Amino acid sequence: MTRGVEKVQVSGEELQVEIDASTEQQYVTVCGIRIRLARPYELDFEWIGNRTVLNQLKASWFCSKEGEKPMNPRLVGKPGVGKTALGYAAGKSIGLPCYFFQGTADTRPNDLLVTPLVVETSKDESKVEYIASTVITAMIVGGVCILDEGNRMQEKAWASLAPLLDSRRYIESISVGLLLKAHPNFRFVATMNDDASCFDLPEYIQSRLHPYIGLDFPDRSEERKILEVNLPFTDPTVLDYVADFLEVARKEGEDYTPRDGIHIGNYAGKLVDFEAHNGRDLDPGDAVVTAVEQILGIRQARFMKQILWRERAA
Ligand SMILES: Nc1ncnc2c1ncn2[C@@H]1O[C@H](COP(=O)(O)OP(=O)(O)OP(=O)(O)O)[C@@H](O)[C@H]1O
Ligand SMILES: [Mg+2]
Repeated sequence: MTRGVEKVQVSGEELQVEIDASTEQQYVTVCGIRIRLARPYELDFEWIGNRTVLNQLKASWFCSKEGEKPMNPRLVGKPGVGKTALGYAAGKSIGLPCYFFQGTADTRPNDLLVTPLVVETSKDESKVEYIASTVITAMIVGGVCILDEGNRMQEKAWASLAPLLDSRRYIESISVGLLLKAHPNFRFVATMNDDASCFDLPEYIQSRLHPYIGLDFPDRSEERKILEVNLPFTDPTVLDYVADFLEVARKEGEDYTPRDGIHIGNYAGKLVDFEAHNGRDLDPGDAVVTAVEQILGIRQARFMKQILWRERAA
């Protein structure tokens, strides 16, 4: 549906959000068009350690004066270092609902806006429903939009976000003839990997995504706590070994991330539990060796073997 010249301008905060009693879905109506909103993401999750980056992200969003605008930071770091987790933690800590948008190489501009969808209402009846993206939803309700893996998105998709990311703070949806101004509470952050496999962002987009907040590896004690909150059911000895392993490997220049650690701890813990369940004993250290071999590779387990040799020789 093209409404061409009769483009409607609205601001997120002016729109009334209605909740459908049976489905609990949220809707807004703009000029007779009912638009279904996305659902916020709810994670039972606690951010550990690195207060500096958390505060930098919150500071870049901070507005204390009437009419002051937040910035649109980008979080950059290795895959699995905690970028998405940090965006979510920052959003939650300022009491805003968090919405994710997963950027991919084939994200089309409309995927970021409002998409018409044909839904079947009965056996031989169907209607068009308009579905707001998570970006649009966050702009309407005044939430955080975490644009994940933004570096994978092509320029065409980014172009539709350009006016949103400067002082104009609006987005245009041609398909519903709408110019939507973001709610004052709307906050935006893009997460990006620093690997070379991704598209380089065009300069006019890069220049809008500031500040650049780099996320590095946690230290040994933070890492141990990250493992614990993410793996509450895993044998604590396994978690100690995994934290030791990550510390030693990183000193040797290997970039294993908290996510790698979580997978290793999870699998090693399951190996130990499974053997115990079947009346057998498996040493937690040996379980971590196996887990490293099967998650990172045989050679990578040498760091863990060294830890065990040293421990057993002592
Ligand atoms: N400081 C932290 N506190 C709690 N959990 C963390 C922390 N850092 C990382 N994690 C955990 O590590 C895992 C990986 O984090 P996350 O998915 O945020 O990484 P990412 O950098 O976004 O990775 P990718 O680039 O692959 O998207 C998650 O399970 C997350 O909960
Ligand atoms: Mg991520």
